[in-house]
This record gives sequence, C-alpha cells and structure tokens, in this order.
Amino acid sequence: MRIRRVIISILVICFIVAFCLSLHFYLKALNINKGLTNDKPVSSSDYHFILIPEEMDNPYWHLVEDGAKAAGAQADVAIEYKGPVQANVEEHIGAIDTAIATKVDGIITQGTVSPEMTAVINAAIQKGIPVITLDSDDPDSRRVAYIGTNNFKAGYQAGEALIKATHGKAEVGIITGNFDSTNEKQRVAGFEKAVSRARDVHIVDVEESHITRVQAAEKTYNMLIKYPKINAFFGTSSLDGIGISAIIEQLDHKKDTYIIAFDTLKETQTLIKKGAIDATVSQDPYQMGYQSVLMMLDILKGKQIKSLKYTDSQIIRASDLNISITHTHAEVKHK
Ligand code: BGC
Repeated sequence: MRIRRVIISILVICFIVAFCLSLHFYLKALNINKGLTNDKPVSSSDYHFILIPEEMDNPYWHLVEDGAKAAGAQADVAIEYKGPVQANVEEHIGAIDTAIATKVDGIITQGTVSPEMTAVINAAIQKGIPVITLDSDDPDSRRVAYIGTNNFKAGYQAGEALIKATHGKAEVGIITGNFDSTNEKQRVAGFEKAVSRARDVHIVDVEESHITRVQAAEKTYNMLIKYPKINAFFGTSSLDGIGISAIIEQLDHKKDTYIIAFDTLKETQTLIKKGAIDATVSQDPYQMGYQSVLMMLDILKGKQIKSLKYTDSQIIRASDLNISITHTHAEVKHK
C-alpha cells in the first residue's frame, strides 16, 4: 500500500515536471516565431530607419544626416542615409519604394506635394511602415508627422527683412531651388505676401537653380542682363545666395545690391561676414534630423505625437554672426 502511494507520488511529480518543461519550451518557441513572423524588433537596436534627402551630397542635407545619426547613435538605431545623387523627384520616389520593399522600420523623407509622392507615402503607411516628412511637407498624404521650418513664415520673414533694409524700395529678383518643391513655393509665397505691403517693392523675375550654385549664378547673370534695374535678390535654397553673390561680386555691383539668402552654411556665414551677402534666413537642419529619429521611436512605441513640429527660423545678419550663432543653426563639423 505504501509502495503504491510512493509510486503514484513519483509519477505525479514526473508529470508536473514534464508539463512545466513542455510549457516552457512551447512558450520559447512561440516567442522566436513571433520575432520572425512579426518583423517587430525586440529592442531599438534592431530598428533600421532610412533618411531620404533631396540630394545626397549637399551640405545642407549633411547637417540633417548629422542630426539623425547623432540621435541614432544615442538611441542605438541604425540610420541609413540614401537618396538621389542630384535632386530628382522620380529617383526620390524610387528610394521610398525600395525602402518599403526592404521593410525598413521607419521612413524619414523630404516630402513634396505631388500625386506620385502622396501615393508612395500612403503605400508605406498601408504596409505598416510609419513615414515622417521633414524639411518639406506633403500634408495631403497619410504621413504621421512633419518636422521642419514653417516655410511660408520663413519667406515672410525674408520679405520683411528686405523691406526694412531697402527702406521699402526695391526691384527684386528671386532665385529659387526648384519650382516644384513645396517648401520653395511656400517661401516664395510668404515673401510675396510680405512685400505686397510695400508699394515700391516689386518682384521682377523668378528663376530656378535646381539647388546648384552654378545655376544660381547663371540665372542671376541672365536676370541682370534682362532686367538691369534689379537691385535686390532673394535666394530661397541654401546654395542660391552663394551663386547670386558670386555674380554680384564679379560685376562689382555689391554696394547697390541687397542680397538675402537661405540657411547658415559655413560659406554663407563667411560671405555675410565679408559683406557679400546682407542677411540669411536660418533653419535648423541638424534638429530636423535629430528630432525626427526620436519622434519615429515614439511612434513605434505607440506614443501620442504632434503631427506638426516646426523648427526655428530667424533672420541672421553680420552682427548676429559676430556675437554667436547656436551650434544647431551653424554648420556643425562634417566629415
Ligand atoms: C532647403 C532644402 C534644399 C536645400 C538645397 C534648403 O534651404 O530647405 O529643401 O534641398 O536648401 O541646398
């Protein structure tokens, strides 16, 4: 009788141990499987975000890249920087398509309002990949958020600065990056709105530089041949002011010509200090990159985020450069 009881107890213990072991291995297998089928990284070090610039080797976009990679290094997230070698909307859309196909965890991209861009952003969202636009927005798309300059406001600030410096009398030539870029259009629109308040400020012509300093210089030269009365220029993308000032210097027109540029690249700062450019509108590309990565992590963690986050823009003149310019406004070191 006693022996029977001992045997039964041993059997019960064996059963319990076997049950617990099976349960343990079953749950473990379930977790592994989950990892494979869900594609959900278990820690942020498994995340892979892509940052798609308007143009790869552009000093402005390298600042965005620096900011994104700094946040990536802090949060242990892999940041891939990949996009068109030279600004090209089709290639840009292709880069987003490839990012969807390679199943990245988040897409951070310059946006623009075009049906094709909207469609590819929506396709990413449909596949469960969050998209943040930065620098330029596509509010018609289902992107989760935009982070960057309020471009209309920045253009307005440029217009006000020009009115003040020219005492409300100017014949203005505008050199803009690309006619199709949403942020450039907004800058021009903001500028137009501001100068519409000044009776004697007229916009004479608007040309595009395709975001290159060479074409900015060429278009400036042609504009001056066509309209010699132009005595002020507004360059709306980061290399335009540099191209404009090269021609104005060459023609020895500087003392009679006011130039307001965009961005605070090192070269622009040097030209402002030299008096070759009068002022510039600062943006914060480093912060755009940095904050977009943190925002993407918040989205993946299911946190509530604001769908619009404007970074700072200010008018910078020589006196501001002599005092100090915050490191995020200035061009930070780049390899
Ligand atoms: C704009 C970018 C553009 C860059 C070109 C910046 O001012 O915000 O959209 O790609 O200039 O250099």
